[in-house]
Amino acid sequence: MRIDDPKTQFETVPAGEAEEIDETSKLGIVLQDKRAREDPSQQGRLLRGVHAKSHGCVKASFVIRDDLDEAHRVGLFAHPGKVYEAWVRFSNAAVLREDDLKADRDGKRQNGSRGMAIKIFDVDGDMLSADNGRNNQDFLMINTPEFAFANVRDYLRLNRILERSTRGDDPTPYFLPAALAQLGQQAEGEPADVAAKRQFLEAAIANDPLLKDLSAADMNGTLASAKVAGKIAQQTVRNPMQVQYFGAAPFLFGDGQAMKFSAAPCPATAQIPFENITADDPSKDYLSEALAATMSGDQDIAFDFKIQVRSVDAESLNIEDATTSWPNELANYVDVARIIIPVPQSPHTADALEHCEKLAFSPWHSLAAHRPLGGINRLRQKVYAESACHRKAEGY
Ligand code: HEM
Repeated sequence: MRIDDPKTQFETVPAGEAEEIDETSKLGIVLQDKRAREDPSQQGRLLRGVHAKSHGCVKASFVIRDDLDEAHRVGLFAHPGKVYEAWVRFSNAAVLREDDLKADRDGKRQNGSRGMAIKIFDVDGDMLSADNGRNNQDFLMINTPEFAFANVRDYLRLNRILERSTRGDDPTPYFLPAALAQLGQQAEGEPADVAAKRQFLEAAIANDPLLKDLSAADMNGTLASAKVAGKIAQQTVRNPMQVQYFGAAPFLFGDGQAMKFSAAPCPATAQIPFENITADDPSKDYLSEALAATMSGDQDIAFDFKIQVRSVDAESLNIEDATTSWPNELANYVDVARIIIPVPQSPHTADALEHCEKLAFSPWHSLAAHRPLGGINRLRQKVYAESACHRKAEGY
């Protein structure tokens, strides 16, 4: 299979998707420009289209376990015991560099989605795309097993909505239909505040060309997004190095098999607790402070890198819906490698920050054996390349 094949035989591409991908990536560039212009903290600088705020980039080793069973010796994992050099970047998923726990309109601090991206250098095998001429395998993860948007169509609706706000950062209208659905059927004698909210939401939706004619599928997508957003809001991350991350979408694992991956802080390694954070008064950059404190400690940090592999025709893999996790997903991960982040490191010197800024991660910097699957991943092929090119990233 070649990289320009639009899909594997395991994927179902909806009609019109190629045009939707083009529009989404064009809007991505418009949004990057808008934020550089309108967000004073960027001072005109173009940043990543999302995950703009970094907590730090650190050097790591990616060590394939030497006790791997035969079934897992595929692609990157074909050589048990092999040690690769790697870089890891920790980030907030938010589109602007704002407080780690940003206050909402009522002043309540909100948890956000957090990211961990790993770039593994000079791997062996057929590649989907080189990374500035080098054969690197990137794995990009967030701290929930599900992604907040099911498919290209929903992500495009989000980008169209973001584009209407001054700094290209307000997704609120996307979620209004879900907020209305959560109110349930109108009941006789419902409290005045609920009735007022219902009236407000109904009018806002009826007057919004992007919301008033949602199909049943679009509505389901919106509800699924709201569910994942609710999960993100529940999880307070105290230290970006002490949380489990997930690839969320599916990937190929050799012939006819699909893989999900995850990285979990290794329990055998004592990590520095970072307890002096209160939800009421966190420092605005407390996550990079936690990372710096961890990196100046005297214990190397380790993550177990885990995968799970299922036959692509197994039930409920939902290859085309990134808001779903697999049945019993959390119970089925197997450790296949260890990420070791040696201390001490100084991720916040001017040079280190500039290097971190220039790195470009993409799920399509990948071995063909781990080809990204599903609509959200097909979308990422174009969007990441264009975001990185637009902000003049230089790769590794
Ligand atoms: C499974 C779903 C996804 C996951 C797990 C994920 C995760 C991540 C992570 C961790 C980063 C930060 C990489 C870094 O540190 O440089 C990132 C960057 C980015 N993501 Fe995603 N993402 C997902 C889906 C998407 C989608 C659907 C889009 C938009 C179409 C998107 C657009 C971007 C962009 C534009 C960047 C910055 C690229 C650059 O300029 O280098 N992501 N993503």
